[in-house]
Amino acid sequence: MKVLMVCLGNICRSPIAEGILRHKAAERGLAIEVDSAGTSSFHAGNPPDLRMMITARKNGIDITDLRSRLFVKEDFQNFDLIFAMDQSNERNILSLAENDEDRQKVKLILNEIDPTSNSQVPDPYYGGDHGFQVVIDLLDKAIDKFLNRLDGQG
Ligand code: 4NP
Repeated sequence: MKVLMVCLGNICRSPIAEGILRHKAAERGLAIEVDSAGTSSFHAGNPPDLRMMITARKNGIDITDLRSRLFVKEDFQNFDLIFAMDQSNERNILSLAENDEDRQKVKLILNEIDPTSNSQVPDPYYGGDHGFQVVIDLLDKAIDKFLNRLDGQG
């Protein structure tokens, strides 16, 4: 299975989502390919935000090798599942969809925790350092739920 994590800048939320999923899939021995992208190209080619790299490291996740890239419509062909971090990202992704098959691949990641919530991963970019740990805690929970379901454990 191939999974794409998407946020706005691809330097805060989606790189850590990529790192957490890769880490947890490896721990469970699951063959999941993971990538991430942004709906803007503001930071294309850049490494993740330093604050997220540091908070990730504190949580045992190394995302220093990742580089930001723009989400493109070809991603619909290359991935089975596309997780948006918030509804604005979701709308931007869906604006590039060409058919229902594309559209069905797009999900809000926090709906893995509660499918009816439509909750969003808060953008930590303009906030304080604590916001980065909040993002990690939310994604950790959502990705555990996703993997439990995939693994037949709930
Ligand atoms: P991300 O956070 O979407 O989680 O990577 C942001 C990064 C950069 C900007 C906004 C959000 N920006 O406006 O540059």
